[in-house]
Amino acid sequence: EILRQVEKFEFLFTISAEKLKEITAHFVTELAKGLSKQGGNIPMIPGWVLELPTGNETGDYLAIDLGGTNLRVVLVKLLGGSKFETVQDKYALPDNIRTAKSEDLWAFIADSLKAFVIKQYPNKPSHALPLGFTFSYPASQDAINEGILQRWTKGYDIEGVEGKDVVPMLQKALSDRDVPIDVVALINDTTGTLVASAYTDPETKMGLIFGTGCNGAYYERVADIPKLEGRLGKDIDQNGLMAINCEYGAFDNEHVILPRTEYDIQIDAESPRPGQQSFEKMISGYYLGELIRLILLELHSEGVIFKGQDNTKLSEPFILDTSAPAISETDSTPEFSEIESLIKNKLGINTTLDERKFIRRLSELIGNRAARLSVCGIAAICKKRNYETGHCAADGSVYNRYPGFKERAAQGLRDIFDWTVEPKDYPIVITPAEDGSGAGAAIIAALTEKRLAAGL
Ligand code: BG6
Ligand code: GLC
Repeated sequence: EILRQVEKFEFLFTISAEKLKEITAHFVTELAKGLSKQGGNIPMIPGWVLELPTGNETGDYLAIDLGGTNLRVVLVKLLGGSKFETVQDKYALPDNIRTAKSEDLWAFIADSLKAFVIKQYPNKPSHALPLGFTFSYPASQDAINEGILQRWTKGYDIEGVEGKDVVPMLQKALSDRDVPIDVVALINDTTGTLVASAYTDPETKMGLIFGTGCNGAYYERVADIPKLEGRLGKDIDQNGLMAINCEYGAFDNEHVILPRTEYDIQIDAESPRPGQQSFEKMISGYYLGELIRLILLELHSEGVIFKGQDNTKLSEPFILDTSAPAISETDSTPEFSEIESLIKNKLGINTTLDERKFIRRLSELIGNRAARLSVCGIAAICKKRNYETGHCAADGSVYNRYPGFKERAAQGLRDIFDWTVEPKDYPIVITPAEDGSGAGAAIIAALTEKRLAAGL
């Protein structure tokens, strides 16, 4: 009986080449709108990185990256010659950090940094160490060393931070603990990815994250960023470039083009920030397991799946993370025994073979939809900047670990651009990124120091 449902979900989650092209065309206009003075759905935040790295930047920098599961602290040694070395430590985020108090968040970061500095510099450093702070949320900047959080994304909901500059909050927690660190740059993870990859590969056109969230950054011509008018010094070259953190997870918040299903609408409605991040909520890692859960829960309530079994665990929001569809897609056992143990362990539910086949198919559909929709952002940036060839540097758990994501994403780009060549000859290629939040933050800190020293 459950297998009769497959067709309905195939219909709901399959995105045709035509639809991808339509979405991309709308995406291009939305990118431009975001850069305009009146703005649009996509924030298109100027990143105050005004130069491409040469690969010759040198020096020691600290970098931190507040991710979904870990705080990463990195000491980066830029060696020049497009080379760098890193030493890093990871600190597991305390439970429930997504809804912690603001002071607890900054205290945790400052304590972790203190522990790292003591370990790396047993003799207290003679001068404050410059730090690049990778903050992977939409933060408005009028300068590289500030970041006013517009709103939390990816399920974060910490009071007292939205609308405020996060740099002084971190700086104060560091001073309170007498940690000799100067926060010199705040960057987005996509900007870091862009710059770190450009340091080692001059063909880099954009930095992308396909992970807990989904976003991209690229270099835009200053003259094509009308909202910068009046915010730049006179010396700035209008033909110069500035890195833009698109925050395109917010694409189509007005719901005119994306084929949202009732499940996408429910995810949005039940999230801490309804109406925000419409695109991201359909495709990024934070939501893929939840999509599966909502569908299974509905089918259970209709009596077509897991008949007569207890749905207590299945009713718990976010009990399934992206590893659920990922495991379901890679299970190569004849009876889908990995799916069987996954559902048993996570949800306490026994499955029939048909139910497991259904879960497998559903995972394929959701994983494929995510990959195909994801590349509309890449294609839109290429069209906006007239890039016909180049490397799109990507990072994040979905890109790195979700089965088939890379192939599906490449196929999506082929559908949008009507390429007829072999996959190995695709002119626009998604490449694995250099470590953006470590090296990228360090390179940006170095570029900033150079610019400030030059009095710009
Ligand atoms: C990491 C990058 O690999 O991917 C981070 O170093 C980035 O900068 C992260 O934020 C995003 O992936 P996820 O899956 O942790 O959200
Ligand atoms: C979310 C954040 C964005 C970040 C992305 C990937 O979309 O708002 O800042 O780049 O996730 O981590």
